[in-house]
Amino acid sequence: MIPRILAFAGSTRRESINKKLVAIAAHGVRESGAEVTLIDLKDFPLPLFDQDLEAEQGMPENGSNLKQLFIDHDGLLIASPEYNSSIPAVLKNAIDWVSRPAPGEPSLVAFRGKVATLMSASFGALGGLRGLVHVRSILGNIGVIVLPDQIAVAKAHEAFQPDGSLIDPKQQAGIEGLGKTLGSFLMKLKA
Ligand SMILES: Cc1cc2nc3c(=O)[nH]c(=O)nc-3n(C[C@H](O)[C@H](O)[C@H](O)COP(=O)(O)O)c2cc1C
Repeated sequence: MIPRILAFAGSTRRESINKKLVAIAAHGVRESGAEVTLIDLKDFPLPLFDQDLEAEQGMPENGSNLKQLFIDHDGLLIASPEYNSSIPAVLKNAIDWVSRPAPGEPSLVAFRGKVATLMSASFGALGGLRGLVHVRSILGNIGVIVLPDQIAVAKAHEAFQPDGSLIDPKQQAGIEGLGKTLGSFLMKLKA
């Protein structure tokens, strides 16, 4: 069975540099022979998670749709900005909603056993590395196998060409390689 990878950025910004980054890595996934579905969290607006809201109104439709996408894929490719040295609220909020079990459902069905690769792009000199530490920890704690290789693109507002590719060919190949490695890993796992 051909593995399927869900790819997205932890940003809803229209001109997000992390959306550009994850699109490059998605290209690498396709080279591995795996399938990739590139989504934008902006298409799944969710209220801030509130347990009272959940108890009164249940899971919002966008939450169910996003959770189903996670369930239907074997891997996750995530490019996340760093906000104040940590995970952006929009990404954590999406993870929190997707982590909620339907009545009678085993816990964390959308996360357990999935394989993920992380990357980041940020304006700062560390490229969002400090945020990835937190994203890695959160995903690991909810049953996701996060592959060791990751890349943080520093000073990313200066790193891209107008066509969305990276100016530095080595960096471009590195990001494509992350997607390819994730795809190849899942191809072996599913063989
Ligand atoms: C609330 C907030 C906090 C930020 N904190 C950091 C930070 O800790 N480190 C950093 O390198 N950039 C930080 N930035 C700048 C982001 O790197 C920059 O906004 C980047 O464009 C976000 O990624 P995006 O383009 O994918 O949305 C912050 C931006 C915002 C809005």
